[in-house]
Amino acid sequence: MLVLKRDQWLDLARKLDWEPSYVDEKQLFPEPASGKPWLPAAAWREWDEPYRTSYTEYVTNQQAKEAAVHTLRDAVGQPDDRKALDPCWLNAVKLHAATLPLAEFAAVVGNLRAARFGRDSAWRTTAALGALDELRHAQIPLLLMHGWVESDPQFDWTHKFFHTDQWVAIAARHFIDELLLASDPIELAIGTNFVFESGFTNLQFVGLASMAHRAGDRMFEKLLQSIQTDEARHAQIGRAVLEVVVRHDRSHAQYLIDKWFWRSWLFFAVVTGFAMDYLTPLAARTASFKEFVQEWILDQFQRALDDVGLERPWYWDQFLRALDTYHHMLCASAYTYRATVWFDSVLPGPAERAWLAAKYPESWPQFEPIWERISGRWREAGPGVEWHAHGLTPVGFCNLCQLVLCGGTPEHNTARTLVHAGRKYIFCSEPCAFIFKSEPQRYAAHRDVVARILAGQAPANLLELVTAYFGLDRQTWGKDVHGGRYAWLHPADHPEAAEPRS
Ligand SMILES: [Fe+2]
Ligand SMILES: [Fe+2]
Ligand SMILES: [Zn+2]
Repeated sequence: MLVLKRDQWLDLARKLDWEPSYVDEKQLFPEPASGKPWLPAAAWREWDEPYRTSYTEYVTNQQAKEAAVHTLRDAVGQPDDRKALDPCWLNAVKLHAATLPLAEFAAVVGNLRAARFGRDSAWRTTAALGALDELRHAQIPLLLMHGWVESDPQFDWTHKFFHTDQWVAIAARHFIDELLLASDPIELAIGTNFVFESGFTNLQFVGLASMAHRAGDRMFEKLLQSIQTDEARHAQIGRAVLEVVVRHDRSHAQYLIDKWFWRSWLFFAVVTGFAMDYLTPLAARTASFKEFVQEWILDQFQRALDDVGLERPWYWDQFLRALDTYHHMLCASAYTYRATVWFDSVLPGPAERAWLAAKYPESWPQFEPIWERISGRWREAGPGVEWHAHGLTPVGFCNLCQLVLCGGTPEHNTARTLVHAGRKYIFCSEPCAFIFKSEPQRYAAHRDVVARILAGQAPANLLELVTAYFGLDRQTWGKDVHGGRYAWLHPADHPEAAEPRS
């Protein structure tokens, strides 16, 4: 039997566009569903991406990846294996486990929309495979973490997180819903495939994977690597779409870059910034969060922008300054309000602070007094008294990113205010205010946690807010991972401090 070689049939199978005769092109691909700029099919005809995967190849490769994950899970992903890991590190896993898997599920929806309304057939094929990827990315962590729920109910937040009104979940939904559920295929390609997946996911899926390896967490390392190989493939959609959009509507392309770069940066500052610089044990850290951003974002992303002829976002200097400060401010806020999140936090000791001071020589002196003050509160109270080193009143949130208002530094905050249709809004930063002003119809009606409290939709009392509104309880709300028992914190007068918590 004569079998055609791959190269002889692949283009025929990938490029299946035809001229519609029953309806016109605009009815087949209406602008609200396909995205703007709306261009005739001829403008997309040359669309291509380098992987050019066929369905048969896809299934074969994915089957092998799945088998590898399951083999490793049987070998090192059991509850007893988890007990051998550093308790602090496990909280980096919980942070990932809650914020990513159901976001990946939202990416299934975005990719399926592109698989129907993307303007070129090869794009649609790649997006269809992307949707299958994203389903796998949602399922692997749900499966792996499920086995751990029984012995640690905080892992239940892997599935629960996006279904709650916990404040990080509100912020994550605000971002993920727009990026993955609501955006048209062009905005999805630029925001998700080009900005989020080509640049930022490397921080978590390559950078944090190297720390998982050092922390001895081979299961989590494998999970991240298995996902990353898929991301690298469907991320290629972004560049190919962006090149066409730049040719026809450069300012729209630039706006989408500016908007999604900032929003992605904030998301990863929370997820990866905390995990790398605070929750990963010192011995397992391979580099600082800032160093990873410099490698993956500053160098690579900038080169990618140059290649397509776009500028760096206009707020680049503000971004560079935030790189030294933002996740440190957020982390101090989160520690001070640790009962409002689903994972435990750690108090950086002298060794960790010396490491942070070396990695962030310009900015760290401003954060040292915050941790000194928190340490002082623990010293006064003694181990186990969480509330003495905890905030009591709800804090303010940005009306765009919905994260805590903690841009800038203790001396110089970056908040911006704005009145729109008679309502006053506040933002953590100038780029957040810019995004709001560019599309107020998208954002103006949303209510942050404080607005919900003022409207009587959420309780003002912090304990009630945490339990009745955020969905946490005594077992799951975040605590100090060692209950304040640090040998360096309570030298002679608290000998029990040296004992690890059972
Ligand atoms: Fe994914
Ligand atoms: Fe993806
Ligand atoms: Zn903001």
